[in-house]
Amino acid sequence: MPRLVAALLALARTAAADLPCAAKPETCVPIKTATGDLMMPAVALGTWRGSYGDCADNDYSCVRAKAKASVGDWLDLGGRHIDGANDYRTQVEIGEAVAGADRDPSATGVAASADCAASPYYDPGTKVRQETWKAMELLVKLGKAVAVGISDYNATHIEETLEVAEVPVALHQVEWNPKKHDEDMLKLCQKHGIQLQAWSPLGGAEGSVTLKWSLQRGVAVVTGTDNKDHMASDLDLFGFALGYYDEVAAISALQ
Ligand SMILES: NC(=O)c1ccc[n+]([C@@H]2O[C@H](COP(=O)([O-])OP(=O)(O)OC[C@H]3O[C@@H](n4cnc5c(N)ncnc54)[C@H](OP(=O)(O)O)[C@@H]3O)[C@@H](O)[C@H]2O)c1
Ligand SMILES: *[C@@H]1O[C@H](CO)[C@@H](O)[C@H](O)[C@H]1NC(C)=O
Repeated sequence: MPRLVAALLALARTAAADLPCAAKPETCVPIKTATGDLMMPAVALGTWRGSYGDCADNDYSCVRAKAKASVGDWLDLGGRHIDGANDYRTQVEIGEAVAGADRDPSATGVAASADCAASPYYDPGTKVRQETWKAMELLVKLGKAVAVGISDYNATHIEETLEVAEVPVALHQVEWNPKKHDEDMLKLCQKHGIQLQAWSPLGGAEGSVTLKWSLQRGVAVVTGTDNKDHMASDLDLFGFALGYYDEVAAISALQ
């Protein structure tokens, strides 16, 4: 169930040139910051319990162990973007994995997040959303975050955020996959220069073609897996392209 979440992209405290995108720009997408565009890896690894099929409901020691191991595997494979949220209860383990042996944290972009409203059953209202946005801007002004974004917002929530925003809304994370993709939301984000990012980008479909479809639509992806082979394949999306008029259009028409 989507929640209203305000995600904070704490892309470490590094200059754009330090990020892995300098070496492989084709694997990255631009996002807006207060001081200009920054490149962000287009493929992120998620750390939500739902991504770990082997863990029993509410077994958070299982979830935490999976998150720590999978983030370690992701970093070893060259992945440099990790999606976290306070309520996933895996942020400590992400930090431990990132800080792990012989990795250079300055070359590791990590996405953390701050929740705005904690329940799908409760609408915090315009004022709270706007105040939360201003608080996240403060994190940018204090140098704690490089870019800030939102998640699971509707068009009204975006407009009311833009009304008060002084720092660009860098990114919007929404459910996006072949079965469920809101084309109006993509257009709205493109109009405002907000990078759209997909959660559940597979939506039950399989593998690389589905993720590549999102990337070719201009949508970054957050994949969820603790299977190292799947991680490798989810990172290996840059040596091929789908045909725009047949494959990309055909997948877009599946909905
Ligand atoms: N903002 C929000 O409201 C929100 C909501 C939900 C999720 N999220 C974020 O999005 C992340 C991803 O969500 P999700 O787990 O639903 O995404 P997903 O990647 O669409 O689905 C995950 C499933 O796909 C499988 N998979 C991954 N790569 C594969 C591959 N190459 N080949 C075959 N199967 C593959 C995984 O199985 P295996 O384990 O077998 O690989 C897993 O069962 C979450 O971890 C979380 O960070 C955000
Ligand atoms: C967005 O959700 C709010 C409730 O938070 C609602 O008042 C508004 O009508 C919704 N806007 C759209 C475009 O669905």
